[in-house]
Formats: sequence, structure tokens, C-alpha cells
Amino acid sequence: MCGIVGFVGRQGDALPFLFDGLKRLEYRGYDSAGIALAGQGGTVSVAKAQGKLAVLEGRLGTLPRAVPLGIGHTRWATHGRPTDVNAHPHTDCHGQIATVHNGIIENFQELRAELVAQGHRFVSETDSEVIPHLLEAYGGDRDLLGAVREAERRLRGAYAFLAIAASQPDRIVAVRRSSPLVIGLGDGVNYVASDVGAFLPQTRRALVLENGDVALVTPETVEIQTSEGTAVHRAPFTVDWDMRQAERGGYPHFMLKEIMEQPQVWSDCLLGRVRGDHIEAGELGLPWVQRKDVRRLQIVAAGTAYHAGLIGKALIERLARIPVDVAVASEFRYQHPVLEPGTLVVAISQSGETADTLASVSLARHLGAPTYAIVNAVGSTLARESDYVVYTHAGPEIAVASTKAYTTQILVLTMLALELAAERGRPRADLVRALWSLPALGEQVIASLASIVEMARRLAGERDVFYIGRGLDYALAMEGQLKIKEIAYIHAEAYPAGELKHGTLALIEEGTPVVAVVTDRAMAEKTLSNILEVKARGAEVWAVVDGALPHDWPVDHLIRLDLPDPLLSPVLTAIPLQLLAYWTAVHRGQDVDQPRNLAKSVTVE
Ligand code: F6R
Repeated sequence: MCGIVGFVGRQGDALPFLFDGLKRLEYRGYDSAGIALAGQGGTVSVAKAQGKLAVLEGRLGTLPRAVPLGIGHTRWATHGRPTDVNAHPHTDCHGQIATVHNGIIENFQELRAELVAQGHRFVSETDSEVIPHLLEAYGGDRDLLGAVREAERRLRGAYAFLAIAASQPDRIVAVRRSSPLVIGLGDGVNYVASDVGAFLPQTRRALVLENGDVALVTPETVEIQTSEGTAVHRAPFTVDWDMRQAERGGYPHFMLKEIMEQPQVWSDCLLGRVRGDHIEAGELGLPWVQRKDVRRLQIVAAGTAYHAGLIGKALIERLARIPVDVAVASEFRYQHPVLEPGTLVVAISQSGETADTLASVSLARHLGAPTYAIVNAVGSTLARESDYVVYTHAGPEIAVASTKAYTTQILVLTMLALELAAERGRPRADLVRALWSLPALGEQVIASLASIVEMARRLAGERDVFYIGRGLDYALAMEGQLKIKEIAYIHAEAYPAGELKHGTLALIEEGTPVVAVVTDRAMAEKTLSNILEVKARGAEVWAVVDGALPHDWPVDHLIRLDLPDPLLSPVLTAIPLQLLAYWTAVHRGQDVDQPRNLAKSVTVE
């Protein structure tokens, strides 16, 4: 998703900060990038380029140095292809005003037609370009803040943008309407960015803009107003996490680092919440949930977080016997959902900024349902807009493909299921006690998986692969197939193992790759029969199985895991599926951390 940075200083050179800030936002995913600087008078100077930041770096020589005002952007295309021209910053007709924008301007066609009729010349295919022209139309070259306020009344959509003008070299005007924006407070210089990571080397003091805020940021001051013009105060805070946590730590890719650090983050996630054989209900907000008299859960999430929700459903239904529905957020928001009294809406999200998940929560609140969020990014919009929030404590997840955020989401859902079960007279002290064995088991699983590198080499030559499993294993299979699609670009489909014979079995022929997941002991025999079915038709089978199962596995590549109770196993079983996808992508030479067409934080619907 697009990344925004801005620098306004009394003196100094904005350019090195802007470029480094963009680098630190690279993890969000992007397809083009650009920077604009505005010195005293003259016009704004812009450099932009399709592709990686290295391409932009090659063009920075055209920009002036020692200019203390500038904005930068990494773009993830929504309207118009990823090209040099469509990259941000965009400017007005006379190169006086430059803007960078994240999100979508829904009424851009209407605005563009109106501005063209007034004589404005557009050069890009983007929705974003209406902003500098609108600012020009409202006299932004004389009064940038006034023009932004006027423009705000016309723009519709979910977005954030920064504007600078060559005539006003002491200011950035920043607007937040849904997409996140944070201001970093320096000494004689202030920063603006989509997230704090962009300016952490410069300052740890920050403040978060709220939806509807318009901020006038100068080297010394930050004045914030609502779009109606009422002054508001947003309290500064100190960022207490370290950017080093987000560095690769010697691994070739962030994804591998994040897979490997799962046992550690599981400890962080359990800390303070599980003591001996009981779960601290207050740490999960359960007294609050009880007051709401909850009788049903509706989980909403997207992608990997949705897959964690499927595991949550199985655990909560089996352990606590509370009915749970799980919906993909982009569907839920438009399906006129029926939320009966007593329904708790549980939103799951790593970034806390996924537009569809946010919209689902806002719909649920509108319908009067209490909302509970399981979130990784502290201070994110979802965390702030839900009635109750539980953090997963996975730390910054940089690789686009989610791994450690997914398994910590499962852990939070497991604790929730166990505590709801206890409250309903179905305690499972054995499982609660066993939770703390997971980090050590995770280390063991990782240590046992050296052979997966070669197993993945074989898979790397394939075009299609099926993933099968039953129950919890089917939910895991769904996540396994998403991982291999998104980073190895191999077409993959997950099926309930028992469903294959109802149609899909027709596709199995000599050499068809099938990955089978078999950790649910109660259903192992049944899945074994399904493995035999595909083997009989020539499939090549990779199987991830519970090592305690007594069966002989008639498969081509076997991964045996040392697993505890099947209800606690999903986080462990996820590891070989993540590593299989990772090594397959590496063997295929793909850009593992930043797969094509994908963004880390999906702030458009
Ligand atoms: C896949 C992946 C995505 C996200 C999805 C939701 O590896 O990362 O499918 O899970 O875009 O994102 P969050 O969790 O930030 O709401």
C-alpha cells in the first residue's frame, strides 16, 4: 500500500530523509516512487520512477540539494498503471503545488471533468491528480491551508494526502481521512509519514492524526483542525519499539526471519495472559465480553487473518460450544449481515488498517454489535475504532506474506476459546498448561525441518498444486495454499480432503502435486484414505503429519512433526507450510518479501 513521507525543516536537506524514509516504508509494497522538493519561490522539483527505489535513486541527481521542504511517496497502483507519469508526487498546471496521496478519491471523475472544463491540464490516469489541481483552483499558491480546507469539502473517499507549495516553503499541509498519517516531532524539523517506522532514526516523539484532521506542520509547530475548522489537540507519545526489531537480523529475507522468530513472539503473546493452568480473563477483555451477554461470535477478516479466523471458529466451537461464523470482510460489509442481539463481532488484522475489515467493524457498530479486535499494529485504526482490542504482540511484520502475525492470531484465539470454555463450565486446564510448551516445541519443529529445502526444490518446478486436509487441517491447508500462491506464484487450491471425489479428483493425474496436512488424530484415517485416492491416480504427495500417528504414510515427501494435542497444534503445523512456500519461492528466484501485485497493508477496498 502506498507510503507517504514529508519533511519540513528550518534549514537542512529534506532529500536524504525522504529517500531513506521511503526505503523504510518499502515493506508496505509498491510499484513506483517519487519525491518533490519546494525551495523558496520558483517551482517544485519532482523526480519519480516506475519500479524499485533504486530506479528513483538514479534520478535524484536532477533535484536541488539543501532544500528543507519535501514530500515522498511509494505508490501501489489503484487507478492507472504503474508508470513514471502515474507515480506521485503530482503537481498543478504551473508546478507550484505538489501532493502525495494514499487511498482513493471516489468522485475523481466528476472533479476531473469540472477542472478540465476550467482549463486545467491533467497528465496522469490517476484519481490522485485531481488534488493539486483542486488546490490550484482554490488559490493554494497563496494560501495552501485555506485551499486544502476548501478542497476537503469536495473530495469524497478514504484517503490521506500531503501538500506543499513553492510559495510557502515553511509548511506541509496534511490531511487524514481514513488512511493513516503520523507526525514525527523533531527539533527545528517535523516529519510526516504513513507510519512511525519512516522517521524512527530521527525521532521517537510522535502524534497520530485522527480521521478528518487537517494539520498545518511547520518546522516548529503542528496545528491540527477538524475539517470544520475547530482546533483540536492530539497528544504526543513516545514510540517504545526499536527499528532494529524490524531489520533482517542476518536472514536473507524478512519472511524467513519472521518464520524463525515465531517461538519467541509466541512467548511475547502468552506473557501475562497464561499463568499455570489459568488464563487471565481480564487480559483478554472477557469481563467486558461477559457484560455484553455474548451468545454468538461473528469473525471478520481478510486473507491470512481470515484463515486464522477459521481456526478460531473450530477451537471456540469445539471447546466453548459457542457458535461462530467467519466472513471475509470484503463480503461481510456488503451482505446486509444479520447480527442478532448477543453477537460479538471479532475483527482480526495484522496491520489494523485493512479497509474492508475497518468497514466491517464500522458496519457492526452501526448495527449496534459490540466489536472486539485482535490486532498486531499498536495504535492502528482498527485498534482505535473497536470497542475492545487485544494485541497479538508479534512485533513489526515486514514481509508482505504474513507468518508470525498469523500464528499469534491463532494463539490469541486459542486463549480466547479456552477461557470462554472455562467460563461456560468446560475448563481444559491440561490445554492451558500446555500452552507454555509451544515456544519450545516451535524451536524443535524448526530444527527438524532441514529436509524441507530439498522437498521444496521438487515443488518449484510445478505449475499447480492441491492442498488437502480435514477440520483444522483444512483451515491450515487454506493458509498453505495462499502462501505458495502469493510468494512462489504457483497456482494452488485447498480442498477438504473428503470433498475431492466430488469433482476435483478428475484433475489428479500422473505427477500432480498434492500437499496433505494430517494432524487431527481423530480424522487421520479418513485423510489417509484420501491420500491413497490421489496416490492411486499418480499424484506426487508431500505430507505434513503428526509424528505420533501410527500409520505408514504412502507418500513421496514426508514431514513428521512432534505435536501436542491437535487443538494446540495449528501454530506448529503452520511452520512447515510456511517454509515449504518460502523455499519454493526462493528456488524459483522470486522476490519473497515483496511479491508482485501485493501490498502489506491493504487500505483500499
Ligand atoms: C497474506 C497476507 C494477506 C493479509 C490480508 C489482511 O500473507 O498477508 O492476506 O492477511 O491482507 O491483512 P491484515 O491482517 O493486515 O488485515
